[in-house]
Amino acid sequence: PLLPRCSPRPLPSDREKLFDFHGVSMSHYFTNNWENVQNFQARPDDIVIATYPKAGTTWVSYILDLLYFGQTAPERQTSIPIYERVPFLETARVASKKDLADKLPTSPRLIKTHFPIQFVPKSFWEQNCRIIYVARNAKDNVVSYYHFDRMNQAQPEPGDWNSFFHRFMEGKMVFGSWYDHVNGWWKKKQTYSNLHYMFFEDLLEDTGREIDKLCSFLGLSPSVEEKEIVAGKVQFDNIKKNSMVNYSTLSVMDYNISPFMRKGKVGDWRNHFTVAQNEEFDEDYKKKMKDHTLQFRTEI
Ligand code: A3P
Repeated sequence: PLLPRCSPRPLPSDREKLFDFHGVSMSHYFTNNWENVQNFQARPDDIVIATYPKAGTTWVSYILDLLYFGQTAPERQTSIPIYERVPFLETARVASKKDLADKLPTSPRLIKTHFPIQFVPKSFWEQNCRIIYVARNAKDNVVSYYHFDRMNQAQPEPGDWNSFFHRFMEGKMVFGSWYDHVNGWWKKKQTYSNLHYMFFEDLLEDTGREIDKLCSFLGLSPSVEEKEIVAGKVQFDNIKKNSMVNYSTLSVMDYNISPFMRKGKVGDWRNHFTVAQNEEFDEDYKKKMKDHTLQFRTEI
C-alpha cells in the first residue's frame, strides 16, 4: 500500500527529507494529505492507537485486533496484513489505498497514528474517542528507530549511529521530538479521560496484566482462555514469524538490512550506546524531562 512491490530501492540521496512542519520535524510522506487527514471524520466508537514511532504500535494494534475480531472474524488474521486492519491515519490517503481508515468496514474502527498531540484531527476529540497511547523509554526507542530508518526506504536516510543519536536528542526525526511527544500526550491524559497511557516495558514484563488493563479501559470482558490465546499470539517470537503482522509483505521494508520485528527487548540500547554517549544522553535527558512527572524504565 505504500509503494508498489517492484519499486527499486531509492538511492540515499532520493530518500525522504526532513523539514520543519508547524514546529515539528516531518517528511512529506506524512504531510502531503494534510487537509484530508485533518478533516477526518471520526466516529464515537473509533479507537486510536497513538505512539511515537517504534514504541510498540504494531504489537498493541495486533492485541486490539485480536480482542475485537479474533473470535468473530478469524480469517482477518490470515488474510489481511495488520497495516490494513489497523490503518495508519497519516498515510491513509496515499497511493492506491485511498481512504483506508475512512472506509474501514469494522466496528469499531482501529486506527493508528504517530502524530504528536497537537496534530490529532479535531474530530477525534469532538467524538470523545478512546485513545491508547504507547510509550517506550527513549534509549530503546532511539535504537529501534535507527534500525527502522536503515531498513525502511520510505524514511529519511539515517546516517551513522552517532549522528542519528544526536539528531534524536535534537528532535530531528520524523514525527519530531520524542520528548515533546511523550510529554504532550502525558499532559493530555490529565484532562482527557478517554486516554489510556501505557508503556512498552510494562507490556513486555507482564503482557497478561496489560491486556487486562486494556480490556477494562475498553469495556471488554473476554474469557480467561481468550485472553491467554491473545497473549500467546502476540508474543515476540510468534509476531516475528507472522507475515500478516511483521511487515514482510511491504517492499519498502528491506529485511536484508534489518527485520521490522528486530529484537523485542528492553535494554538493547546497551549494545549501541557508548559510555560517553550514555552520559551525554542522561545529562540532556534530565534537562528535557525535568518539568515532567513521566517516568520510564530502561531495564526490567
Ligand atoms: P525493536 O526494534 O527494539 O526490536 P512499532 O510497531 O511501533 O514500529 O515498534 C516496533 C518495535 O516493537 C520493535 O522493536 C519490535 O521488535 C517491537 N515489538 C513488536 N512486537 C513485540 C513483542 N511482541 N514483544 C516485544 N517487542 C515487540
